[in-house]
Amino acid sequence: MPIVYQEESKQFYLHTDHTSYVMELYEDHLIHSYWGSRVNTIPNVEYFYPFSYGVSTSAHDIPGKLLNSTDKLHREYPTYGTGDLREPALQVENAAGDSITRLRYESHRIYPGKPQLPGLPATYGQDCETLEIALFDAFSGVRTVLFYTVFPQKDVLTRSARIENRGDKPFRLEKAASFCVDMHREGFEVIHLQGAWARERHIHRQAQSAGTMVFDSKRGVSSHNTNPFIALVSPETTEQYGDAYGFCLVYSGSFSAQVSGEQFGSTRVQMGIQPMGFSWELAPSESFQTPEAILVYSDCGLGEMSRRFHRIIRENVCRGKFRDTERPVLINNWEATYFRFNSEKILALAEKAKQIGVDLLVLDDGWFGKRNSDNCSLGDWIVDRNKLPEGLEGLCNKVNDLGMQFGLWFEPEMVSPDSELYRAHPDWCIHVEGRPRTEGRQQLVLDLTRPEVCRYIVDAVSSVLRSCPISYVKWDMNRNLTEMPRKGFAHEYVLGLYRVLEEITSSFPDVLFESCSGGGGRFDAGMLYYMPQTWTSDDTDAVERLYIQEGTGLVYPISSMGAHISAVPNHQTGRTTPVAFRGKVAMMGRFGLELDLGRLDQATLDALAAEIALYKTYQQDIHTGDLYRLLSPYKGKTAAYQIISQKRVLVFIMNISATPCQAPLRLKLQGLLPEGRYKELSTGEVYEGRTLMGAGIPLDARGEYCDFLKVFEIL
Ligand code: GLA
Repeated sequence: MPIVYQEESKQFYLHTDHTSYVMELYEDHLIHSYWGSRVNTIPNVEYFYPFSYGVSTSAHDIPGKLLNSTDKLHREYPTYGTGDLREPALQVENAAGDSITRLRYESHRIYPGKPQLPGLPATYGQDCETLEIALFDAFSGVRTVLFYTVFPQKDVLTRSARIENRGDKPFRLEKAASFCVDMHREGFEVIHLQGAWARERHIHRQAQSAGTMVFDSKRGVSSHNTNPFIALVSPETTEQYGDAYGFCLVYSGSFSAQVSGEQFGSTRVQMGIQPMGFSWELAPSESFQTPEAILVYSDCGLGEMSRRFHRIIRENVCRGKFRDTERPVLINNWEATYFRFNSEKILALAEKAKQIGVDLLVLDDGWFGKRNSDNCSLGDWIVDRNKLPEGLEGLCNKVNDLGMQFGLWFEPEMVSPDSELYRAHPDWCIHVEGRPRTEGRQQLVLDLTRPEVCRYIVDAVSSVLRSCPISYVKWDMNRNLTEMPRKGFAHEYVLGLYRVLEEITSSFPDVLFESCSGGGGRFDAGMLYYMPQTWTSDDTDAVERLYIQEGTGLVYPISSMGAHISAVPNHQTGRTTPVAFRGKVAMMGRFGLELDLGRLDQATLDALAAEIALYKTYQQDIHTGDLYRLLSPYKGKTAAYQIISQKRVLVFIMNISATPCQAPLRLKLQGLLPEGRYKELSTGEVYEGRTLMGAGIPLDARGEYCDFLKVFEIL
């Protein structure tokens, strides 16, 4: 039984194969008592406080107890207004205007599996057990149900909360975190993924500061700038050793993650919907469900933390037939042609692509309305016959005749002021009556809180998808939300988006969907629930991609990251790297191409064909295997990654800059069976696992942009 309630000690034990999370009822408070490596028992909370401590400023709202103030206690879902005056997880404005909530334990239940979260993406599966704990404030009618689901074999815990109004007056939710954990120590280092357009999810690791550290997005999307993921690690934690606590929100909108050092030496960490601009009225008998968070603890470093995230996201967040099947190698025409294309150009690209082994051609932006630049036509999802005289159907059929599948770009959440849609429905975009409408990339965002707008989007996209055999959709979203007309709107928008995505993706189960937001501006587990891959970044430079992909891979699996070989000199950075180097970097993701094949000589085409063939040989290993980061580009000039699948061990090595007069490096492999036998493919030599992990393999890392792929069969 992964979840156990011990009546005698009033403790809840949530066990996975290697971890335990323990809570206790202290009086009627739900207290956090332990989260770490697997234990059988934990003493009751007072054992950990052999002396009484405190300050006179703390209000004693638990009179007569050793721990007499909620200011000292580590409550699972802290509220504000009695003893605990720290940052609460839940903030309510009661009908009387005050913000006081005092949640008492009411009841709990444990059951197999887990419920779906209404209207929200979340982990799913049978291999799990759920605990619901209800807490109630009889004075205000605020009831909170905390959800804990344990995936024992995956070493993962998920949390969310449902807030209910059980009173007879309405109240307003001002903040409802998805979870809160009061950790019993301070002095962590905090890892977070920061960036910008074309520089998404760079890894930042910094010492926990006194006070509160905030990592958030107020942009209406999870954003290029801050990803909804943080990790708390010990200063000594490395890839293979030490404590790592990871937190990832399954949500695509504005969010906030906070890490607060508290006066008695604990650390409060919480994450949820961005409270700024949020307010949600709950009338009597109404309820509000927060997004879910995935919590992972690893006592063997960041590498294992990432692998646990990868497995749960790959197998229990991503859905649909493409979760497990091979996906096509695609070529996208964006960097090949931008807006300057016609059917001949696209067909010529498809023909060449077919010759080198590509399976699917994606027609990107510019196929609809009169869109020859990014200043018009979003919303008018009607083919431009000037560019494609035989329509999409004609082009699609010709691409299919070449033996290739056809895919299409959309940006369905948007409208251009210069569009038929905007002229017909100027009120359909997000706006405040009378205020100027701020444009971004010369476009406005459609108001997805309005049912008729969502209906239009579903119908418009569906009718194109029904018009010809389209096998793939790139779903783009190129700007942030402004002029939001009311508090709570950003969340309403996300709920509208999720309804649209659910309807479209379930109506077209055979279409592979890839999400995108000006590159990786909405790379989160929420989007991955609907679409199993995301375009990682508009920066296609192979060296830049090493940093972006390693940061992304801290939490998201390789199988979710779109990665393409593009042209040199690279369009974003001007850098020139060899095909093989670009190929290996793209193989550390969902491999594709994005360049004009017509401009390449035969030798380059042959080199591309070789990379495609190599990827096809190993793609199942790459996308189902376990990732080990051996050398990080953040720490040196060489990046090395190892993947262990059921049959093979693959080692990818990419060298960024040249060093003269250097002896071979010895690259130690990880995660092998010490007694296991591994046959290196190119030489046929067989090595013991302990040899490869102890002595390593020699590595020639002298040359600029050189790459290696070493393959070992597991005997
Ligand atoms: C965004 C995407 C690109 C491309 C363009 C088209 O920037 O990230 O890949 O689709 O839009 O306008």
